[in-house]
Amino acid sequence: MRKKVILITGANGEVGHGLIRALVQTGADLLVLDLRELEDSLRQHVKHTIVGDILDTDLMDRLATEYEIETIYHLAALLSTHSEFRPESAHRVNVQGTINLLQLAIDQASWRGQTVKFIFPSSVAAYGIADLATKQAADAVSESQFNSPITMYGCNKLYCEHLGRYYTQHYRQLAAQPEDHRVDFRSVRFPGLISALTVPSGGTSDYAPEMVHAAARGEAYECFVRPDTIMPFMVMPDAIRALLKLADAPRDHLTSTVYNVTSFSLTAEAIADLVRAQFPHAQIQYVPSPGRQKIVDSWPARLDDRAARQDWAWSPEYDARRAFEDYLFPTIRQQYGKRII
Ligand code: SER
Repeated sequence: MRKKVILITGANGEVGHGLIRALVQTGADLLVLDLRELEDSLRQHVKHTIVGDILDTDLMDRLATEYEIETIYHLAALLSTHSEFRPESAHRVNVQGTINLLQLAIDQASWRGQTVKFIFPSSVAAYGIADLATKQAADAVSESQFNSPITMYGCNKLYCEHLGRYYTQHYRQLAAQPEDHRVDFRSVRFPGLISALTVPSGGTSDYAPEMVHAAARGEAYECFVRPDTIMPFMVMPDAIRALLKLADAPRDHLTSTVYNVTSFSLTAEAIADLVRAQFPHAQIQYVPSPGRQKIVDSWPARLDDRAARQDWAWSPEYDARRAFEDYLFPTIRQQYGKRII
């Protein structure tokens, strides 16, 4: 008999770690997939782990035959900075990988005779604002504005949002027998994410988490954007809550397949000030990298998340003060223990 599971791809990434911890509390049986072995502290809680590639279609077929997948959290992706070094590889992972998972969801839906939920983290990178003056003049940006991303990752995320909408609403619409059981794609556009437990790799919003973690480790940090650089952020517990809350929302309450979510917007200098107040010996210098600066400058300063608030009662638990004082600093201090200066 096939095993009933929730599938998480990219399980070894930052969001994956938080999501696994939250989902194991619910008693769900998890099937986790990543290119690397899941780290030991998490593996003991997870029923099924597979080391494999979302581009491996034989593996996708095997998953389809061995498991009954109710929900897919498709987290695997190459982030924005990494993607600019290998745009075509990024496209394969971010787009073809997503199509493979959508296909798996469609297969599962027909086999099971039930809709399969597909939860997809999209990103502030789906936006592209032409210049700083326009960014500064813009109010909080809604889902349909400035959809001209300047990175491969942003293009990939935006396109995958459309694929999700297509698979949910229009898949094989000319077939003689329309599909009854489909994919139910739901996506959040995340701002930059900051976790107290892990440091991201290959993103362009990484300066914020890197600055906090470097100070906690007693290491000097060279920030790769200007002090006045501003973008929206969210701490990991809120990001995980957003995914779970959207997954749980009744379908008929949803008016879209894509929702902005956000918590607080801060400049790099404001983050550095918070860090210095907590770690007085923190050494933070600004050495802007023109390429990465341009990317963050193209992202909105603020996101409008009213649709998520209205449709599925989204509301972050951590504003800037709580994020740093109640979550990041205490958890990071605990994590690095004696090594903190
Ligand atoms: N954190 C991501 C990145 O920087 C944006 O979603 O690539």
